[in-house]
Amino acid sequence: MIDTGGAASPQRVRSVAELRAETNLWKTTGAKIGFVPTMGALHAGHLDLVKRAKALADKVVVSIFVNPLQFAPSEDLDRYPRDEAGDVAKLEAAGCDLVYLPTVDALYPKGFVSRIEMSGPALGLETDFRPQFFSGVATVVMKLFNQVGADVAVFGEKDFQQLAVIRAMARDFDLDLDIIGAPTTREPDGLALSSRNAYLSPQERAVAPELHRQLQLIAASPDPDAAIEAASAALTKVGFGKIDYIALRDADTLGPVSVTTSNKRLLAALWLGKTRLIDNIAA
Ligand code: PAJ
Repeated sequence: MIDTGGAASPQRVRSVAELRAETNLWKTTGAKIGFVPTMGALHAGHLDLVKRAKALADKVVVSIFVNPLQFAPSEDLDRYPRDEAGDVAKLEAAGCDLVYLPTVDALYPKGFVSRIEMSGPALGLETDFRPQFFSGVATVVMKLFNQVGADVAVFGEKDFQQLAVIRAMARDFDLDLDIIGAPTTREPDGLALSSRNAYLSPQERAVAPELHRQLQLIAASPDPDAAIEAASAALTKVGFGKIDYIALRDADTLGPVSVTTSNKRLLAALWLGKTRLIDNIAA
């Protein structure tokens, strides 16, 4: 038995009909609904988003759905970690009221033909390496938003470009909900929590925090270009593989920085063995 501190077990629903039956009931009482979309394999970073949603709303829905649309054929869809029972137990302790676990066939029935395509913050960075990624993310998030009918949705800054894409989508399509970004939850050694950290070998796990350390060094440097070069060399030396990008961007547009840019973000994606790590910090 898990000690939940007296928290009630969240309801588990798999169909949109069951989901709406519950959320419509909440709405009749005037309850504000918070929403946290996830792909499961939940860690403390996800649970911090749930706690944030709970502080902003009366009822919290968490979805768990490993979205095939955002995985390229070569990516880790089949080996993506799945642990429904463990996830539900963690959500119970974090104060989630309802867990929505749709099936692939329910979200994408035969004949599903629509996609959301975006430019702006969706261009470059991740898109240079995963061309279909944000189209897949935006499409599933739009569907989940429409199904859940939340007043507020919480996303992690860990996926900073994703947060920017979702903000732009909500603005462009006049979605009637607030998008809240929450800071990245890290291990004590600085490694950003990620479901994919489970893939790291003990040796890889030992060097992984060097990514966050090098990002901090770049952010503190008066010469970012030289610092990115030095950091890339240092990361390669400790065992990192291909560097997809380490880039300083305008935090609001994710476009290039100019002399007038006041709000900057340093974003990185690189390989450690067979695992692709992403991270970012304010710069
Ligand atoms: P997933 O990778 O499961 O992440 C779900 C949410 O948790 C995202 O908003 C992500 O930014 C946030 N998150 C992940 N690690 C975090 C950390 N260390 N600290 C704080 N927040 C963290 O992102 C997705 O799923 C999917 O793309 C999804 C939006 C669910 C669409 O399929």
